[in-house]
Amino acid sequence: MSGKYLISALLALSTIGVKAQKNITVNPDKVISKVQPEMWGVFFEDINMGADGGIYAELIKNRSFEFYKPLMGWKTKGDKLKEGDLLVLNRKEKDSNNPRYLHVTSRAIQKGDLSMTNEGFKGIGVKKGLSYDFSVDYRQAAPGVKLHAELVDSTGKVLGSALLNPERSDNQWALQSVTFNVSETVHNAQFTLWFEGSGEIDLDIISLFPGDTWKNRKGGLRGDMVQMLADMKPGFIRFPGGCIVEGYDLSTRYQWKKTVGPVANRKLIVNRWNTEFAHRPAPDYYQTFGLGFFEYFQLAEDIGAEPLPILNCGMACQFNSAELVPLDELEPYIQDALDLVEFANGDVSTEWGKLRADMGHPAPFHLKMMGVGNENWGPQYLERLALFTKAMKSRHPEIKLINSSGTDPEGERFDLLNTSLRKMNADVIDEHYYRTPEWFLKNATRYDNYDRKGAKVFAGEYAAQSVGTAKATNKNNWQCAIAEAAFMTGLERNAEVVHMASYAPLFAHAEGWQWTPDMIWVDNLRVYGTPNYYVQQLYSLNKGTDVVSSLADQQVVAGQEGIYASAVLDNKTKELILKVVNTSAIAHSRSVVIEGAKKLAAKGKLTVMENTNLNAVNSFDNAINLSPKQGEIKIKNNTLSLVMQPYSFNMVRVALR
Ligand code: AHR
Repeated sequence: MSGKYLISALLALSTIGVKAQKNITVNPDKVISKVQPEMWGVFFEDINMGADGGIYAELIKNRSFEFYKPLMGWKTKGDKLKEGDLLVLNRKEKDSNNPRYLHVTSRAIQKGDLSMTNEGFKGIGVKKGLSYDFSVDYRQAAPGVKLHAELVDSTGKVLGSALLNPERSDNQWALQSVTFNVSETVHNAQFTLWFEGSGEIDLDIISLFPGDTWKNRKGGLRGDMVQMLADMKPGFIRFPGGCIVEGYDLSTRYQWKKTVGPVANRKLIVNRWNTEFAHRPAPDYYQTFGLGFFEYFQLAEDIGAEPLPILNCGMACQFNSAELVPLDELEPYIQDALDLVEFANGDVSTEWGKLRADMGHPAPFHLKMMGVGNENWGPQYLERLALFTKAMKSRHPEIKLINSSGTDPEGERFDLLNTSLRKMNADVIDEHYYRTPEWFLKNATRYDNYDRKGAKVFAGEYAAQSVGTAKATNKNNWQCAIAEAAFMTGLERNAEVVHMASYAPLFAHAEGWQWTPDMIWVDNLRVYGTPNYYVQQLYSLNKGTDVVSSLADQQVVAGQEGIYASAVLDNKTKELILKVVNTSAIAHSRSVVIEGAKKLAAKGKLTVMENTNLNAVNSFDNAINLSPKQGEIKIKNNTLSLVMQPYSFNMVRVALR
């Protein structure tokens, strides 16, 4: 049954078991406030294999032997392997960013005698007919060793291969690449490099990328994952996190300057999620920074989102080491923030603006906002923030600063920060809530009484947790998604105060996750959006430009009989957009009376997400089980009769003439 037909059929059943008709009155003439163009955005963090092994399309794990165990992810094999034929050398004194490389001695061997096999990140997903780019940095004094690159399945069957004959022999490092096609689609392939011939050769950054990266950029991002973001038309992208900003300790904090410039020079560090959860150990989780700040800005630009970088404020994660930078040594951290503005927006004649241009983007990235600290709290945060704010506001008053309100949306820590930040005239305060679905329903009115004049709110990380915060058994089920949909009516209604919001975390690899729930799940070849994704997408694609009044009995619609509602006007398309969420187990109907409008179209567009099973989820095999279905709804005498199925999110777009 098509989605459209299904909705009509459901409407025909409207009187069966439906609670009595009541009115919701919407008045497109009563504009309450603007909706910020960047209102609904996305939160990106390299958690759950979000970047390495995820959106960063590199298929080789530990490509430059810099993991704690230098050959992690690699297996050597061959009958003719003698002691010392494969050595990991370390040139730390000369190159502290990329110290290790492999020295191969090949003694008159044939293909089949000696190889190195890489297992990929949870295997390597390859697609039939697609091209793959194999590249390697090498150095040799004389020619003699040939390299055979192969993708093989678990039985050893070759899926695609290429010969790379290193051309340079002047003992200088050189990059060479070769492209080959794959004959079959396989989820868990492996990559083998066979050696042939006689001689010695050094190898580094052994790399393999699929040919279908986003915008076909060499060494780029996974096209299907970026497409999911592009399809949301997000208003902003927050990056790089999340706790990854803070690091377990200060040495593993995120330092943007170490993530820009040539990829080979970006120093790998451990990913803080490597050891965070004992029940989800990830000993092979590192950050190569192939996705670094330049690529984040470029991604933001590609998908039309405002870039929102979050910087370390001189504090490591307070759940972990809680290391602090002494106040009188904070200057380099502040300088990083100032320099980031130059990197993003500065003229190409400036040091950092020039680097941006050298990396291929002379035009500015138009950075407008920046976060100082992630989930930091306490007087120590306030002291450090004050120094950042002073320096940033004096040099870059045009940049809006996002301040942290800690880890929780209530309690002592929150109260101290919320009160102090408001006194400090914060631009925007970042609130996080990982709470039960019930919390989300109760808090749909959270912002109704927030101060309209003071600091604005960024709901910077939130997700309903079906079992408990970050519990491994949490599910991206309909119960959580519909609770978020209901809560978001409160964000939308209060767009005067809430300027931005983003669900978190964004991505998770089905075999490599640490934290659940997550908005988008991927494996080596596939991707699907959760019900939560479609809720976010509906808000983002239907954000409108102005909040307008929507009331029942002169009250905001925020939980009476389980119904939640908000309305916006899109003054570009001249449409009224109404969102109504029925969180109750029974069907409800409402007469929606559109006041003020002179003449309305005879029909509106109706979009519905619904399921009577609150445990319903999407999956790789049933990716759109819970997703929006399109239909129509009649309008008569400026009134539409909205029949809402149990547990349904209903959205109506009405053209105003
Ligand atoms: O989104 C997962 C984590 O939750 C983020 O890294 C952190 O900011 C929060 O605690």
